[in-house]
Amino acid sequence: MVILDYKYLELDKEGKLAILKINRPEALNALNKELLKELREALEFLEEDNELMVLIITGAGEKAFVAGADIGEMKGMSPLEAREFAKLGNSVFSLIEKSNKVVIAAVNGYALGGGNELALACDIRLATQKSRFGQPEVGLGITAGFGGTQRLTKLVGAGRAKELLLTGELIGAEEAFRIGLVNKVVSGDQLLEEARKLAERIIKNDPLAVKLTKSAVNFGLEEGIEQGLFFETNSFALCFSSEGQRRRMEAFLEKNK
Ligand code: CAA
Repeated sequence: MVILDYKYLELDKEGKLAILKINRPEALNALNKELLKELREALEFLEEDNELMVLIITGAGEKAFVAGADIGEMKGMSPLEAREFAKLGNSVFSLIEKSNKVVIAAVNGYALGGGNELALACDIRLATQKSRFGQPEVGLGITAGFGGTQRLTKLVGAGRAKELLLTGELIGAEEAFRIGLVNKVVSGDQLLEEARKLAERIIKNDPLAVKLTKSAVNFGLEEGIEQGLFFETNSFALCFSSEGQRRRMEAFLEKNK
């Protein structure tokens, strides 16, 4: 069921799962301001949906997930305009990272610059043999602008992140898998199906426990282990307020009788 009509996005929701497609294939789904604002609107809309547990983000067309921020739009920007643009991209990607939904990136081709950064803001990344990853910004005379220097470093470590960020070179799916940038490489025609299957494996679990688990991992990454453990302790305790905890534990004990 298509739930909203956007210029650059396609959004489908099926119960606890939604699929959001970046739909600007003529420019390899490059992110311009208007697209980023639509993405912000869609994410804010989905965040309010209490039924929704998992969001899959993918790109339209055969070639690209997202080939980066729109170079045509960026070229003539003043420093202040560039700052606003980076703030916009960062605020949108933070919505994904902080979302109370689990977000899966189904990377169906190029994930470059802002496209790789979009995938990095997601919780889990799936790729195909055709996926290519990179942060080519230095070759364009700029640094990464939508979180690449931070999230890539956290995910794959400083040495590997710096190699990608400083050379600007692209890597294929196998190398991305090897360094932990993607969780799994699947065959191209199965990408969305695999993403759905992964979503189902998450959706079968308790919604509150899933939500709090994502938050606890992120909180610890931001604040360090002491704060993270404190957050986890409270998350654990909060689960005991839910009907799901009682019902699921009861069902386990019944089954084992
Ligand atoms: N911005 C704007 N337009 C883009 C784009 C981008 N990032 N990437 C591709 N396009 C457009 C091309 O201009 C082209 O448009 P036309 O048909 O109108 O000429 C169309 O998409 C198809 O692209 P190509 O003809 O270049 O396709 P290709 O198969 O020959 O090459 C590619 C594919 C290797 C991905 C190549 O398009 C490319 O290198 N794109 C740019 C990648 C890049 O540098 N991304 C980083 C951008 S900076 C950034 O993202 C900053 C940040 O962190 C926020």
